[in-house]
Amino acid sequence: MSPREPIVAGNWKMNMTWASAVRLAQTVSDYCEGSYANMEIVMCPPFTCLKGVQNVLDFDRSDILLGAQNVHEEMPDGTAACTGEISVEMLKDLDCSFTIIGHSERRAANGETDELVNQKAKLLLDRGITPIICVGESAEVNDRGESIKFVTSQVDAALDGLLPEQVASLVIAYEPIWAIGTGNIPSPEGADTVCGAIRNQIMQKFGHQAAQSVRILYGGSVKPENAKYFFSMDNIDGGLIGGASLDAKKFVEIVRICYDLKCR
Ligand code: 13P
Repeated sequence: MSPREPIVAGNWKMNMTWASAVRLAQTVSDYCEGSYANMEIVMCPPFTCLKGVQNVLDFDRSDILLGAQNVHEEMPDGTAACTGEISVEMLKDLDCSFTIIGHSERRAANGETDELVNQKAKLLLDRGITPIICVGESAEVNDRGESIKFVTSQVDAALDGLLPEQVASLVIAYEPIWAIGTGNIPSPEGADTVCGAIRNQIMQKFGHQAAQSVRILYGGSVKPENAKYFFSMDNIDGGLIGGASLDAKKFVEIVRICYDLKCR
């Protein structure tokens, strides 16, 4: 048994119409029904499909949890003059339990900084939504042998000013940029070393309890064929799954592998 509750989360990215999202959520819910106690399964559809997926999960009384892929960094102040943005209150309203923040795609394409990720983490924690904070290095940083230095500094910045109990409750996803959507994966031992360094960094800054409780996921080309290698590592508490989460069979197979390795 893992000392922490494992998580497998699907990041659907900018995929799915309402109808296809509802179908996917329904199929995943049917496959998972009652089978996976002591772990958390999360689906993170795009904003436009959150309500549709929530309806499915509600109707099925499913244990699967809902997550968003982003949130605006400000609390609505009464005027909410932020055209095109989605607030933390809107996510609460749809029963989102998790929100992905700082995904490398948003850092690259939307200029999201470590400071912004920190602001979003604080806002989510204040409102009772668990942040899934993404960190990960580029191929160049990896080639220079500086992955740990880079990733731990991202973690430091994202967690700046948080209380140890807040850190204990959140989720970090280590996603090397060069592994996302490419089919290239780090060795499981390599990924575990980086996740272990993140945990160690948290121990230094926030203490033993926070380090032992924080959940650290691996993400980047996780498939049913390679999931067991990552999930058998001690510092990896589950996965953040992109492409394979769009296929109900593959996603649930990854869930099952995680369950078998961490919950039995
Ligand atoms: P892939 O699983 O498609 O590589 O995506 C990983 C990811 O970015 C999840 O957030």
